[in-house]
Amino acid sequence: MKTLPATEIIAIANQKGGVGKTTTAINLAAALACFGQETLLIDLDPQGNATSGAGIDKSAVESGTYQALLESVPAEKTIKASPLELLDVMPSGPDMISAELDLADEFSRENKLAEALKPLDGLYRFIIVDCPPSLGLLTINALAAATRVIITLQGEYYALEGLAGFVETVNRVKSVVNPQIDIEGCVLTMFDSRISLAQQVKTELGAYFGEKLFKTTIPRSVRLAEAPSHGKSILQYDPRSKGGQAYLSLAGELLARRGWEVVKID
Ligand SMILES: Nc1ncnc2c1ncn2[C@@H]1O[C@H](COP(=O)(O)OP(=O)(O)O)[C@@H](O)[C@H]1O
Ligand SMILES: [Mg+2]
Repeated sequence: MKTLPATEIIAIANQKGGVGKTTTAINLAAALACFGQETLLIDLDPQGNATSGAGIDKSAVESGTYQALLESVPAEKTIKASPLELLDVMPSGPDMISAELDLADEFSRENKLAEALKPLDGLYRFIIVDCPPSLGLLTINALAAATRVIITLQGEYYALEGLAGFVETVNRVKSVVNPQIDIEGCVLTMFDSRISLAQQVKTELGAYFGEKLFKTTIPRSVRLAEAPSHGKSILQYDPRSKGGQAYLSLAGELLARRGWEVVKID
């Protein structure tokens, strides 16, 4: 009998906004699905951009992340199929606006997501969690539930600012609530290799993260910015674009780290 590998829960996080978290969450999840991996994308950001970007109408969400976190609705009942095969979504609806505040009153408030996701273990190969741009309780819930965290950084000078503080937060979560979490890696987004400052940031990050810095960088690409307004991942919108190829390469690297040989098919 084939036994499914345990589900890996990967949080895409950084306390800064505009660093490519949501773009990476949607497109990495979509690329993993394209590589045949059952994947669940969880939208933990009240802005709901991962939800709409994955093709789900966020204003129509009646049962989503909020209900799984705060109303004890079984996670399975909050999950929707996305238009992409093998990709499901736990959407963020309008009520997520108050989630951060409502969580503050809860017993064991850091562990609500981890508890909600327990029944899903084994149903997916990967769960990708898009975090909000803060270090509040929602992000802490993601880190408490995750087996891995991927940090996205914009390839420019101030990218490094605040990084040590974020890594320190991950280490605190590891020692206090979730010993299984590790940093999977760091990925540079909106990267322009022609800019020498960007190269410098890459070199510095390589020195800081070593092998954990993904070799794949995500280039600045208009197609990547356009895709969400069509409710599509880049792999549905324009898979051959350089952004599409970059996210396939990122997913390939992630799978290769797990011993998979990824063959690129044109
Ligand atoms: N590689 C990229 N090329 C061009 N635009 C990008 C790229 N990655 C993200 N963007 C755009 O930059 C903005 C911020 O990205 P987003 O993924 O929402 O960041 P975050 O979730 O960290 O706030 C969005 O408008 C998005 O479309
Ligand atoms: Mg975001």
